Amino acid sequence: MKIAVIQGPNLNMLGIREQNIYGPMKLEQIHAQMKEFAEQNNLEVEFFQSNLEGEIVDKIQDCYGDAHGIIINAAAYSHTSVAIRDALSAVNLPAIEVHISNIHRREDFRKENMIAPVCTSSVVGFGPFGYHLAMMGMLQIMSEMKAAQEMQAQTPPAQ
Ligand code: DQA
Repeated sequence: MKIAVIQGPNLNMLGIREQNIYGPMKLEQIHAQMKEFAEQNNLEVEFFQSNLEGEIVDKIQDCYGDAHGIIINAAAYSHTSVAIRDALSAVNLPAIEVHISNIHRREDFRKENMIAPVCTSSVVGFGPFGYHLAMMGMLQIMSEMKAAQEMQAQTPPAQ
């Protein structure tokens, strides 16, 4: 099963930007760890980062019929983007939202969250480890989906 990992604006600056908030880890290092976990658990994983809202919308749309689940940190767009929220609703895939920092403990404008209500769940405030937690959560969702599909395939059609 394929998982798309979608990273929003300024996350390409991890390891440089506000290390007191986001820590020293670079995005490539986070992705390398996620890839390792995916390989160990027979998941396919694809990574995408963009600073542009429309490109993130396009990527979410591309997931339709291609990926089975989405892990997304929409970064600053989480607080503003109706377009990203609508794209997530449109594709209707299991989605886990990640925030490296605890957005609830920060500025008031970060408490507004457009994305969370259309996601299956959120992982917030664990630092880069949150992406690992999201992968574990996605693995669980994928195995539940697979089990449900297998059950359905075995159930004889109603007379
Ligand atoms: C962030 C939190 C957002 O408020 C911020 O704009 C980011 C990163 C996080 O991962 O903690 O860019 O999504």
